[in-house]
Amino acid sequence: MKLSKSDKDRQAAIDRSLTLELVRVTEAAAVAAAGWRGKGNEKAADHAAVEAMRAEMGNVHIEGRIVIGEGERDEAPMLYIGEEVGAGDGPQVDIAVDPLEGTTLCAKNQPDSICVLAMAERGGLLNAPDVYMHKIAVGAGYPLGVVDLDMTPMDNVRSLAKAKGVPVNEITACVLDRPRHAMLIDDLRVAGVAIKLISDGDIAGIIHAVNTEDTGIDIYLGSGGAPEGVLAAAALRCIGGQMQGRLILDSDDKRARARKMGITEPNRKYLTEDLASGDVLFAATGVTDGSLLSGVRYRRSAVRTSTVVMRSWSQTVRWISAEHRR
Ligand code: FBP
Repeated sequence: MKLSKSDKDRQAAIDRSLTLELVRVTEAAAVAAAGWRGKGNEKAADHAAVEAMRAEMGNVHIEGRIVIGEGERDEAPMLYIGEEVGAGDGPQVDIAVDPLEGTTLCAKNQPDSICVLAMAERGGLLNAPDVYMHKIAVGAGYPLGVVDLDMTPMDNVRSLAKAKGVPVNEITACVLDRPRHAMLIDDLRVAGVAIKLISDGDIAGIIHAVNTEDTGIDIYLGSGGAPEGVLAAAALRCIGGQMQGRLILDSDDKRARARKMGITEPNRKYLTEDLASGDVLFAATGVTDGSLLSGVRYRRSAVRTSTVVMRSWSQTVRWISAEHRR
């Protein structure tokens, strides 16, 4: 591949060897959280993942700053927004973490609980408050704007079906199973759209929607956490596809929190590149077995982990199966 000057500059911004360092971080969090699988204790599982992620991050050669984390400084003792992380001897980067995505899935030992981290050049990740976000995502290969948050969900499905050259009843949508999505689910069912309902974990849901060939899912629709939206966008920068997000700021308090975090246009429709820009790295390790990643496996003398790590600059996606001696 021939690199332009700006691409080369970007390569220098985040050294590629950092991809492997990120893997160690999500692996450590997943191994820690796995000890809490099926124990019915979301808080303990999350805490274990946070502590392990925070400790391992201290070995990474970066001057990191958490922009999406466990909450504001006064809400979270570790991995709080604004916290400086890393060994302090590398590039200045912004970090988004979801140490345990799908805490309930882990507590119930259900599929698709994962530990997630994204890294970008300074200013590369939207500093999203912990509110809901409307989200829509489709895979690569469609014209830009084939789906749009300003259209109704059904118009989006019709537009996607037309672009794909199939009838609407051959489209599969991924939707979080929530009462707030009842009308959306009804509309999709009436039109004959197949729905993959997920109980939690919309980062994996959005990744599945762009990996249509592997999953059969064509589109992600609905609302979920805004921090998860930024993390999903970081993954899409590496694997392609289109995503849009719009913060749901439906109270004075939420609007004030968003303003405090630098959001000046409360109704803005964010495209993938607005959520995660520049050179971006993304890593996720499975905690419970899932459709994206296998969970942590305990062997007699080793612990096995399964991780996906990606980089936007090269669009490389690595699936890493690792054995850690006990
Ligand atoms: P947690 O791991 O914080 O529980 O988040 C799981 C999740 O399903 C996210 O993937 C999703 O964005 C969000 O919760 C949806 O929020 P809610 O459960 O309030 O509908």
